[in-house]
Order: sequence, then C-alpha cells, then structure tokens
Amino acid sequence: MKTIGVLTSGGDAPGMNPAIRAVVRTAHQQGCKVLGITNGFDGIFDGTIEELGIPLPAGMIDRGGTILQSSRCKKFYHQEGIDEAFKILQDLGIQGLVVIGGDGSLTGALELSRRGLPVVGIPASIDNDMAGTEMAIGVDTAANTIMEMLDRIRDTARSHRRCFLIEVMGRNSGYLALTTAISCGAEIAVIPEYFYNMKRIVDLLHHRFQKTRDNSIIVLAEGVCDADTFINRMRDEKGGDFDQEIRKTVLGHVQRGGIPTHFDRMLGARFGELAVTGLLQHEIGCMTALAKGKTTLVDLESVIGRKKHPAPELIRLARNLQIEFGDAVEL
Ligand code: F6P
Repeated sequence: MKTIGVLTSGGDAPGMNPAIRAVVRTAHQQGCKVLGITNGFDGIFDGTIEELGIPLPAGMIDRGGTILQSSRCKKFYHQEGIDEAFKILQDLGIQGLVVIGGDGSLTGALELSRRGLPVVGIPASIDNDMAGTEMAIGVDTAANTIMEMLDRIRDTARSHRRCFLIEVMGRNSGYLALTTAISCGAEIAVIPEYFYNMKRIVDLLHHRFQKTRDNSIIVLAEGVCDADTFINRMRDEKGGDFDQEIRKTVLGHVQRGGIPTHFDRMLGARFGELAVTGLLQHEIGCMTALAKGKTTLVDLESVIGRKKHPAPELIRLARNLQIEFGDAVEL
C-alpha cells in the first residue's frame, strides 16, 4: 500500500487534528504518501484533495476542529452515491482510507469497505455513542468544557437560590449529561437511555427548596427534548409555577470547540497511528477502539448500527451518588 487517503466527517471533535497528524506521520514513516480529502465525503465528489506532506500545517496538535474540514454528505445516504465515491477513490489510486468521524461517517466507511476498499475508521464524536469503544475522540474535551460551564452556573445558582436546567449535546446519548452531572455534583440528569420520572424530579426540587432554600442543577441531554419543552413538562407536573425560580442555559456548539485535552490528543495520536499500522497489516474493515484502556481494532460490521448502552459501573456510580436520572428502559 503506497497511497492512503484521510478525511474527517460529521460533527467535528477536538482531537481530530492530532489524529490526522498521527496518520500522516505514521504513513510517512512507513513510506506511504497521504492524500487529505477536504470537507468529509463531499470532498471525494468535489475533488478537493491534496497531498499532506511533512511539515504539516502549524497548530495541528493544539487546535480544536479539523484542518481537513467536515460535512454531513447527503450523497452518502444513497448506494449510488457510495458506488460513485468508491470509483473516484479507485481512480485516484487511493489504496487505503482512514475515516475519522461518528456513527454516520463510519457507516459510510463500512459501505466503502464492503465494496472492497481497505478502510479503517477512527471514532470521533463528542457524543460517545459509538459501540465497540469506551471512548471516542473529542468526548473528554467536551466533558471538560461542560464541567467548567456547570461550575460557573453553580456559582450563580447558589447566589440566587435558583434551579438551573442545562441542555447539553448528545443526540442519542446521555454520556455527556450523566458524566458531567457526576463530576459537577448535579442533582438530576435527564438522558435518552433512561425514562425520567417527572414526579420524582418535581418532588426533589420542591423539597430541596422548601427545606433548605437550596439551588439545584439539572443536566438535560438534547436527545430527550429541548430545555423549554422540559421546563413546560415540569410545570405541567407541578400544576403551575414553582416557588423557586427556574432558569435554562443551552450550551450548544461551544461544547464542540476548544483546545483538545491531553487525553484527546493522546487518543487522537494512538488511534491515528493504529489506523495506519492496521491498514498496512491488512487489518481492514475495522475501527480503532479503546478497551480497558488499551487501543485495539474491532470489526466495523460488528459495531455499526449497534446501540451503545451506558456502562453498568457508571449507572451504579450515579445511583450511589444519589443523582436522580430515572428508570431503566427495558432493552
Ligand atoms: O457531533 C455530534 C453532535 O454534536 C450532536 O451532539 C449534535 O446533536 C449534533 O452533532 C449537531 O450537529 P450540527 O452541528 O450539524 O447541527
């Protein structure tokens, strides 16, 4: 294998740049050239493809986002689009492809692999919703950003005896909401994997405020509903307004940007290096993964389309720390 392509796709995630850097440096070390495809899978059709040589652009280790840019490619929703992309990649002489992205992007990677292109995927999405790996690139940085924001909101919540509802990202995943509720000592986490119990939530808030005039923090994953809808549902359950003032903050895309943490830089480096090593050893149709702290390759066929459930240890931890997060959905 002499020519490897690399692209980033889907929502950007801090740590994608260190992963690209590791792909390029490892490939060069092994005597391969790397073609960087800009703007995700769209770049294959647009022909925005350039060789990535050494030295690489400055700031690849310490910048969030992705220097290759990203997109959610509509053509990849159709088999004909993927057929066309496969043909273009072959004509370009790309003998192996590294796809860095989330669930949807790695589904595209699997489709290319099924057509015979050697592909290795790297999970990168702040949602941490990819089955088969304990962590994806970007999760740690996003969680640290949320943690800082929650700490700041707690200051003002305490000062004004308010209840704050904070909406965080996580389309189908409560990982960010639950883990930051734990790390910030929030009272309530509302996550898509568990049924929230509105009566218990309302009672908890009422008692905290009546007994001690205490502030409260609720962390809501966007995958459940938006913050306004949730506050309306709280009022419906209460049968009117709360004695305590309730405010909302929607963190939004601030969670996706920022300087990657040490963990995400290391994960990017480890996954990038492993992806190229795997390709060169003909370990193809795989995804890099973290299992019990070690990096490994898992079969894309076995992880794509599989739902990731919160780790039992995390659920036990949240229960024992008395975070209200609802009841298990029968899975
Ligand atoms: O990358 C994952 C994610 O950040 C989700 O948490 C969120 O729902 C989605 O992407 C937002 O995507 P976009 O920026 O395209 O609206």
